Amino acid sequence: MAIHYISIVVLIAVLVASSTAASETILSDVNLLEFPLNLEYLEAEFFLYGSTGHGLDKISPELADGGPTPIGAKLAKFNDIVIRDIIYQFALQEVGHLRAIKNTVIGFPRPLLDLSQSSFSKVIDKAFGRPLRPSFDPYANDINYLIASYLIPYVGLTGYVGANPLLQNASSRQLVAGLLGVESGQDAVIRGLLYERRAWKVNPYGVTVGEFTDRISKLRNQLGNEGVKDEGLDETFSSGSILAGDKYSLAYSRTPKEILRIVYGSGNETVPGGFYPKGGNGHIARSYLK
Ligand SMILES: *[C@@H]1O[C@H](CO)[C@@H](O)[C@H](O)[C@H]1NC(C)=O
Ligand SMILES: *[C@@H]1O[C@H](CO)[C@@H](O)[C@H](O)[C@H]1NC(C)=O
Repeated sequence: MAIHYISIVVLIAVLVASSTAASETILSDVNLLEFPLNLEYLEAEFFLYGSTGHGLDKISPELADGGPTPIGAKLAKFNDIVIRDIIYQFALQEVGHLRAIKNTVIGFPRPLLDLSQSSFSKVIDKAFGRPLRPSFDPYANDINYLIASYLIPYVGLTGYVGANPLLQNASSRQLVAGLLGVESGQDAVIRGLLYERRAWKVNPYGVTVGEFTDRISKLRNQLGNEGVKDEGLDETFSSGSILAGDKYSLAYSRTPKEILRIVYGSGNETVPGGFYPKGGNGHIARSYLK
């Protein structure tokens, strides 16, 4: 409650400042539009490597903008050619998103991304509250890759919902609506594929796919620390669990701060780690790293 109150006060202060002075605020359109590059880079690299064995450095080096090559990303062992094809299409969509954002704002170079097996297995261990043995490998097979894909696009989606009402400029809102639409579509496809398989036991853990998603969603709620904004596939809600949404089936919204807490895995926007060993790039993410 106290934190919520403080954030409202800060928000009001920011809005007053932006209406009374021309000074650039941290939540300016430019900053809000560049922030999602952090997640789009992660998704682009994870999907590109997973489906082709190569990343932006090979496919669109100019988009990496001189940022370091991701750690530990690799080709996944897909058996199902349809899943691989879908992931490849997601990769191309993310490349488009990077281009669309960078055509609008200058943005920043690709941050250092840790997409290694251990980076994912740490998140999964945290979600289970104990180390899984053998440790979870996102690249091992179709179902593991889909579970790993459950981790990130949804977080981006909630960020776009959160950014939209803060944007001043109609063309900024149009860009974010376009990004949000396709991110939501990706999330729906991932959830749909997992939903069909929710009773499957993930080898060799003997734990169902549904339980994996529930635990990941609970972890994200816990790390974000602003209440329930996430629902696994086995959770029971009045409107079902194929898609996540509030009591009116409206998409949940998250602030950049909440997103950083989740993707850093630290629950703290000032403590980088997880997929971003050196933190995110851009004005908003850097403003928390002193
Ligand atoms: C809105 O943003 C676009 C680019 O993002 C810019 O070209 C345009 O001038 C802005 N319009 C207003 C009214 O600020
Ligand atoms: C976040 O980390 C900083 C130190 O980097 C610490 O001062 C602060 O208390 C932490 N916040 C929470 C909510 O744990």
